[in-house]
Amino acid sequence: MKQFDIAVIPGDGIGPEVTAEELKVLDAAAEVYGFKLDYHPLPFGSEHYFKTGEIFPEKAFEEVKGMDAILLGAIGDPRAPVGLIEYGIIAKMRFELDLYINLRPIKLFDERLCPLKGKKAEDIDMVFIRENTEDAYVGAHGFTHKEQPNEVATQVLVYTRAGVERAIRFAFELARTRNKRKKVTLIDKANAMRSHDLWTRTFAEVGREYADITQDHAYVDAACMWMIKNPEWFDVAVTTNMFGDILTDLGAVLQGGLGIAASANVHPGKRALFEPIHGSAPKYAGQNTASPVAAIMAGSMLLEYLDLKEAAQAIEATVVALLRSGRIKGVNSGLHACTEVGDMVAGELRSAVAGAKH
Ligand code: IPM
Ligand code: MG
Repeated sequence: MKQFDIAVIPGDGIGPEVTAEELKVLDAAAEVYGFKLDYHPLPFGSEHYFKTGEIFPEKAFEEVKGMDAILLGAIGDPRAPVGLIEYGIIAKMRFELDLYINLRPIKLFDERLCPLKGKKAEDIDMVFIRENTEDAYVGAHGFTHKEQPNEVATQVLVYTRAGVERAIRFAFELARTRNKRKKVTLIDKANAMRSHDLWTRTFAEVGREYADITQDHAYVDAACMWMIKNPEWFDVAVTTNMFGDILTDLGAVLQGGLGIAASANVHPGKRALFEPIHGSAPKYAGQNTASPVAAIMAGSMLLEYLDLKEAAQAIEATVVALLRSGRIKGVNSGLHACTEVGDMVAGELRSAVAGAKH
């Protein structure tokens, strides 16, 4: 039987609740499809920091490097210094494990969930490739004349040819495997940020190797408009770290909200971390009312990555069927108990296969 070691960091706020449902569904899939996931829980997050002063000790970080994959719930607590725990945990893994692709599918599972008028499920089916290790996120910033009237704040945007090229190449390769529009759209702001010329040139150069793929471009401001007006124009989109962060929250709303959107942080062929796009949502923490669907879909992406494609597909199909039948009423907080949704998906997975066997 295939066996995998998975680091699990439930984290802050609703993170632990939604992660528990994710594991519940993964366990059902493991039982039905015959594989084994050994979870290695790690306590890190704001609560652990308040108690111990520890963010992510090196010993634990080394342990994570030996795992087949990582599952993360959510990180963030308004009582902690802004960004401290996020950078110490999420950004640390993205940077130090060199998880250079942030893969964020935006797929409408059920028309009912889309806030746009007249858009069908097939109109919203795109994947964002968010470059995940450069840009403003490298953290090169500073203040001069701090606290003075003439204070100056700076933050450096860093793009390397190698970093830009590997993200763009991944986008083209992905477009080849999706049997749809076969299109890659580069989203940047090269008209105002001239450093983005590196993206323009690299996209054109790499694009020459992919004559079978339609190549398109949008400035980020226009992309915001087109995603709302004509989401069906997008297939694979590749963009900078910061724009990818922003655009994928917008994308999440197209598919029903942050309660459904999932993501993978990947170093292809080496290591990957899976997480819902949503944050820790402190106001819903501990109430058992958050939607675990985004975490469950992150679990499906994990199985896809581990090459357990049938099981991954089954989770997605089960979620889609439960949404379309109205048994899952929606993905906003408060519509269901968080545990109820996990129970439904796990139960359906088990009974679908039991049904097929009898
Ligand atoms: C995300 C989040 C993070 C980011 C935060 C928590 C640092 O918004 O994964 O989209 O900006 O990358
Ligand atoms: Mg974000």
